[in-house]
Order: sequence, then structure tokens, then C-alpha cells
Amino acid sequence: MQVPSREELARSGTLEELYGKLDPIGIAPGWAKATPSLWAEPRKNFAPAHWKYEQARGALDAAGRLINTALAERRNLILFNPAASNSYGTVRTLVAAYQMIMPGEWARSHRHTPNALRLILDSDPGTYTEVDGVKIAMEPGDVLLTPNWSSHGHGNDSRASAYWLDFLDVPLVQLLEPMFFEPAEDEKGEAANNAPPTKDSPFVFPLTDTLKRLEAAVPDPTGPFATNVQLGNPAMDTIALFMMQLAPHLRTALYRSTANNIYAVVNGTGATTVDGERFEWSRGDVIAAPAWRPHCHEAAEDALLLRVSDEPVMQRLGLLRLEEAAQPAH
Ligand SMILES: [Fe+2]
Repeated sequence: MQVPSREELARSGTLEELYGKLDPIGIAPGWAKATPSLWAEPRKNFAPAHWKYEQARGALDAAGRLINTALAERRNLILFNPAASNSYGTVRTLVAAYQMIMPGEWARSHRHTPNALRLILDSDPGTYTEVDGVKIAMEPGDVLLTPNWSSHGHGNDSRASAYWLDFLDVPLVQLLEPMFFEPAEDEKGEAANNAPPTKDSPFVFPLTDTLKRLEAAVPDPTGPFATNVQLGNPAMDTIALFMMQLAPHLRTALYRSTANNIYAVVNGTGATTVDGERFEWSRGDVIAAPAWRPHCHEAAEDALLLRVSDEPVMQRLGLLRLEEAAQPAH
């Protein structure tokens, strides 16, 4: 189709004629949009959701027989939000995955611009992540960071398969476009690293340290965040981490936030209600509380939840809003 000139556009006799001339030059009338571009408050695009470690563990054990780390790069299971047309993100900005590495395996090193962290669920001594050449020991309850562009690979010199949860800001980086990824250049160098794994690293928050900090924290069992400590300040540019300690049978205050939150159960049992949907969880489970969904928690026994949040993104962009809401009827 011929590109209309200024004069031809100016001569348009009807709106339909004008629309017909605008379309081929990539311009649309703002007063006749097919869908609105502004709305009164955040939409419910992503759904409240729950994933169970028990199921993921079964699937990972099958995957352990069926695919090796050389082929898979990472043997992981993506927790995609069941919202319509979504097949990747757990919430809008973040993705969570269960991962397993078998005895003797090495998940080769690479680096990427997305920030990543992992919460260790089950592992024996000898399991480690190598971050920028330093082997960091992975013990259950530890939280380990691999920030933007840090090189990382995973090894397991123990005699038991190791399981953990990964959290990454990949959906955010995909949206913003600055995606870069590269495999490690010299894998022989990595394999030659015979140093024992250490916890002496700024990239790990050992559970033992976190528990000590929680003991000294101001108790707030019925506040929206329960008794909690922040890991890092924030842990990474785009992701903040908080370890929440729940007291048995006390419900936290219902609240909603423009931030997206993912909760992972470090230990204990209980339930989280997200926008009216109740999810009963146990160790290793994951709950998605997408933006602006009121939610609260109640433990059946002493419990620890790791809250993984995109709050730093919302904060820096001036988009963080948070409000407590009335408790749901029960
Ligand atoms: Fe990675």
C-alpha cells in the first residue's frame, strides 16, 4: 500500500478513511483504542497459586533418570503461574523453579544478567555452588545469591541428590530487554578447583545466622510480615529477601502490595490465604501472591517462610504502594 502524504492525510473526509490511512504508517487514534491503556487499579493478571515440593521431588527423581546435567544445563522444573496465556513466570517479574543435582554431577558454569538466588531444601555436605570461582557450601535453609553477571555452576560431591528452589528475575529482564548470557569459557579450570566449599562469602545467608538474627528480632507475630529479618538490604538490585518466623495459630495481618511476592516454606506447616484462596503448605512448598492480592499466613506449628519480593524495583520506580486490609470473615 502506498504511504499517504501529508496532504492525503489532511484531506481525509471521514474517521474511517483517516484510520485506513493511519494504519499503514503505524499510527493509531488514541480516542478509539481497542483496549484501554489505563485502569483504576492493578489488574488480576497473575493468579494466586501453590506448588508442592512432594510432587516436584517425584518429578525431579524421574528427570534424574531421564536427563543428565550435560544435556539439560540445569535440571529444573519451572513453576509457571496458571494465569491464562502464561507459560513461564511465577508472578509478573519473577520465576521460581525446583532443581536437583545428583551425586557426582556438575551443572556447568555460566553467567547472565538476570539476578538469581536459591533456597536449599535437601542436601548433604559436599554440595556447593561455585560463584566467581569460590565454592560455597549448600546446606538446607541456606539462601545463596548469584547476582547479575556473576559466574556460577553447581556441584555435588556428596552421596545424596541435592534439591533446592531457584528464584530469578528473568521475566523482568525479558520485559526490559537487557538479556545477556554466556557459558563459562574454561570449564577445565572450574573442575580443577579442589578447594573445600566455604560459607565465608557475601553471597550466602546461612540458616544458622538467620535464626540467630530472628531470635534477636522484635517479635511481631500478627503484623503483616510476622517476625522477620531482611537478608541483605536488599539482597540484589531487583529482589528483596525476608525470612519470616510464624508463631503457631496466630494469623498475620492481611495486606496487599503493588510488589509481587513469592513465599517458600523453609520449615513447618500452615496455610496462606491469597485473595480468598486458601493454600495449606508444608516444607519446600511455594505460594505465589501476585501484586495487589490481599494475603495473610497462619502456621499450624512453628514455621519459617522465605519471602522473595520485587519490592526494590517498585520502590526505585516510585510504584510501591502497600496497605493493610480488614481481616477476612471466618
Ligand atoms: Fe544461572
